[in-house]
Amino acid sequence: MYLYGKKVILRAVEEEDTEMLRELTNSPDFERMIVGWAFPISKKDQREWFMSCHNSESRLRFTIETEQDGAVGMIGLKNIDWKNGSAEGLGIRIAKREIRSRGLGTDAQLTLMRYAFEELRLNRINASVLSYNAPSLKMCEKVGFKVEGVKRRAIYKGGKFHDLVILGCLKSDYEELIASNHYWED
Ligand SMILES: CC(C)(COP(=O)(O)OP(=O)(O)OC[C@H]1O[C@@H](n2cnc3c(N)ncnc32)[C@H](O)[C@@H]1OP(=O)(O)O)[C@@H](O)C(=O)NCCC(=O)NCCS
Repeated sequence: MYLYGKKVILRAVEEEDTEMLRELTNSPDFERMIVGWAFPISKKDQREWFMSCHNSESRLRFTIETEQDGAVGMIGLKNIDWKNGSAEGLGIRIAKREIRSRGLGTDAQLTLMRYAFEELRLNRINASVLSYNAPSLKMCEKVGFKVEGVKRRAIYKGGKFHDLVILGCLKSDYEELIASNHYWED
């Protein structure tokens, strides 16, 4: 099923998205901002990743698409725990710098949260963000995440250990936000 936001559509990852994802994952600027890390990815590696990439009951990946720009990024959920009703954000990314700060990340995140809470019946989404990733922390706060703690010096990048901010959003936090900002009303 496609998920329709106000600015983006979330759809299954297709083979033609892989070059955008490969360029993004190979970008040092991007690697600096995300919690995970990767060795350089060749076209062959990326093709193999795509061939093994399936949505499942424990992990969902979506390409973020806009009408104007086509495939612009990726979002998803991992470690979906059906008993406890929780999942972890997969690390949202908007590939092109020039289209960031236009509300696409916020719209993609709220679209995914609406699906998680109103269709999958989850109750909680976990996230973790590097303490210096100001745009991501700002976006998390805008979509209802609350800071729940800090893992001190948990991530090593650029020759230093950095703090990792731990966040969570409950279904009730999301509902409170939507009731106050009327995001889905037009
Ligand atoms: C994080 C990310 C997905 C946000 O996407 P986006 O489309 O730019 O997000 P939005 O436009 O919806 O919101 C970003 C907010 O951060 C703000 N922002 C941008 N740069 C900022 C900065 N340096 N300091 C503080 N806030 C900043 C924007 O102004 C905006 O807030 P506003 O709407 O109140 O003005 C995008 O920046 C990205 O892909 N970054 C690289 C990958 C990444 O860091 N992923 C997250 C891993 S945890």
